[in-house]
Amino acid sequence: MLATIRGRDYDEMIELWKTDPNIRLSSADSRDSIRAFLRRNRGMSLKIVESRRIVATVLCGWDGRRGYLHHLFVRADSRRRGHGAALVDEACRRLAAKGIAKVHIFVLPGNETGQAFWRASGFFRRPETDVLLYSKDLE
Ligand SMILES: CC(C)(COP(=O)(O)OP(=O)(O)OC[C@H]1O[C@@H](n2cnc3c(N)ncnc32)[C@H](O)[C@@H]1OP(=O)(O)O)[C@@H](O)C(=O)NCCC(=O)NCCS
Repeated sequence: MLATIRGRDYDEMIELWKTDPNIRLSSADSRDSIRAFLRRNRGMSLKIVESRRIVATVLCGWDGRRGYLHHLFVRADSRRRGHGAALVDEACRRLAAKGIAKVHIFVLPGNETGQAFWRASGFFRRPETDVLLYSKDLE
């Protein structure tokens, strides 16, 4: 069953995310931060539940201009069954319904599975001559 992620899913999700080095966790993944993200982007982040346990997640946010997907994760024993694609398709559908015309994702460089997945899902890699990501800590 595909459903919207709720704040009460936090403990189960964080334990799942911790199992995979391709999900980089940071201070933005504290309970309060995730709750704030879910509130700000209400109804956009999605999970798949089977036998009352979460088997897949994607966080989906938008800033009024562009959409962003984070923490796409499928349990190792549930992969290659279309769960990842189902979550990304539905998140993109919800972004498009808000008038969002482009969605961005972030992938760790060694994550070949992730990159194969995103390519298969219609995402294209931005060449270094196109755009570079710069960041700044604010606290
Ligand atoms: C990436 C991930 C979410 C994919 O989830 P999934 O449910 O297995 O993906 P799907 O079954 O929807 O796959 C859709 C397509 O993606 C591609 N794909 C998925 N996994 C792949 C793999 N291991 N190797 C090559 N292609 C792959 C295939 O084209 C696949 O279609 P097919 O099965 O018909 O060939 C999952 O492997 C995962 O959780 N990985 C660890 C966390 C992670 O890396 N997340 C992404 C962070 S950027």
